[in-house]
Amino acid sequence: MMGVVAADETEVAIVGAGPAGLVLSHLLAARDIDCVVLEQRDRAYVEHRVRAGVLEHPTVELLRSLGLADRLDREGLAHRGIQLAFDGVRHRIDFLELTGRSITVYGQQEVVKDLIAARLAAGGPIVFEAVDVTPIGVDTDHPLVRYRRDDQRHELRCRIVAGCDGSYSVCAGMVPGRAVAERRYPFAWLGILARAAPTQDELVYASHERGFALYSMRSPEVTRLYLQVAPGEDLAAWSDDRIWTELAARLPLADGFRLNTGPIIERGVTGMHSSVATPMRYGKLLIAGDAAHIVPATGAKGMNLAIADATVMAAAIEDALRGGRPERLADYTSTCLSRVWRTQLFSHRMTTMLHRFGDDPFQRQLQRAELDLVTSSAAAATDLAEQYAGLPFATFAERVG
Ligand code: PHB
Repeated sequence: MMGVVAADETEVAIVGAGPAGLVLSHLLAARDIDCVVLEQRDRAYVEHRVRAGVLEHPTVELLRSLGLADRLDREGLAHRGIQLAFDGVRHRIDFLELTGRSITVYGQQEVVKDLIAARLAAGGPIVFEAVDVTPIGVDTDHPLVRYRRDDQRHELRCRIVAGCDGSYSVCAGMVPGRAVAERRYPFAWLGILARAAPTQDELVYASHERGFALYSMRSPEVTRLYLQVAPGEDLAAWSDDRIWTELAARLPLADGFRLNTGPIIERGVTGMHSSVATPMRYGKLLIAGDAAHIVPATGAKGMNLAIADATVMAAAIEDALRGGRPERLADYTSTCLSRVWRTQLFSHRMTTMLHRFGDDPFQRQLQRAELDLVTSSAAAATDLAEQYAGLPFATFAERVG
């Protein structure tokens, strides 16, 4: 039989312990705002979910300012740029030279581990395995979140609910009249982690007749690699041999690029899809990260964008709860959306510039022209570099601050 209701209270109930929810919990704690994070999975699951691994410059700066970057600064791999390969030739885009900023390669699950450890060490509550999470009364001044844990029913009374519960979000589904703008791409990515030392310290985005390939890494021992495949591709059709052969065919080996192979320790197929759901707020419920928008992985913006939302949300919540300006919650959607749509534009451009879409000669020549432009014009390369290295958070956070 289900146990009795246990009631608790906080200022902000955060649903989801991914990057958005965890960063939000730290930003709120830094403002002396009380919060509880509810997560439906267990700790090991969220700490081992393999996702992209590139941190924009503003993300790194934010984590540093919160005192959360010790391990990131020790173990993260600083990259000064990326390489674009086409016709078998590599072209460097040097972010540091073009913008003065660089990026850091550090797996999303490492960020998540650091944020969880620091939050728990500071005594901040994270409730793992909280299932059937249901926000109630978010259009009133007294919302609450119901959930179940260990067969006991719980109620968390709060003032604000932060829906950071990912792409299958329960919270987002509670926003009435939500409109979704989306684009599906006619391909997916087959991603692997291999126990093989990276051979260089820059990512390679390779456009190839046979389809796109990406060379990335996680550590001095682990390489991360991706291949463009059909949507819903069957992993079983890809032996280790076939994966390595295809990577070798698409990556610019003839241009001096070396590929180390090794045991494949993780593999999966990820669909490519863009979506933006609006509004991102209903009453006292605010939505952030994948719960509100998805970007295709080309450009590795998902986690960075989720964290940018969290900065806007923290400022709006502080205004509402401490500044006596609850009406500022109404600006949350529009403030987030300017960054969201710029990021969508960037991720869409990177995706359409680099993938094989079919045989349409017009589209292929446009792709080629775009690659030529971005690798020969300093203005075009700087535009890509600025967006890849990350536009400052402050410009966006300021407007609610
Ligand atoms: C990754 O390392 O997982 C990664 C890097 C760059 C991307 C996407 C994924 O654009």
